[in-house]
Amino acid sequence: MKNLKKIALLTASFTILSLNINAKEIDKETGLIVAPGMEIVKANCTVCHSAKFITLQKGDRDTWLSMIRWMQDTQGLWKFDDKTEDIILTYLEKNYAPNQASRRPNLSKDKLPK
Ligand code: HEC
Repeated sequence: MKNLKKIALLTASFTILSLNINAKEIDKETGLIVAPGMEIVKANCTVCHSAKFITLQKGDRDTWLSMIRWMQDTQGLWKFDDKTEDIILTYLEKNYAPNQASRRPNLSKDKLPK
């Protein structure tokens, strides 16, 4: 019995530890997730609007690229060299990817339109 309690305690503390590891660090100034590429995103993407525009968005690489192209075509966003663009897109797709967990479950077949 004593051992069981120990195991339970150990499991609990491991769970707490791994939760802490998973918790993402947030940049205090902008609210952006601290990860490789953040400084470049911060320097280029928080000039015209707050980083909230980014933190409230989700998208895969193509979605982010099309938002950037749209800003370049219509909002005066400057062009990036390939390396900078790659760093920005990699940061965005990794940290602001479409969140599968927040999606509602699929409707069952009988609830779909015929
Ligand atoms: C030259 C100014 C400028 C810069 C720099 C800029 N943006 Fe924007 N961005 C805009 C404007 C203007 C809007 C539209 C604001 C509005 O809808 O009122 C916008 C909108 C957005 C949106 C919202 C799009 C939507 O569909 O609602 C996102 C996301 C975004 N920007 C991300 C970025 C990212 C990522 C970067 C860096 C690569 C960036 N922005 C840099 C001007 C800029």
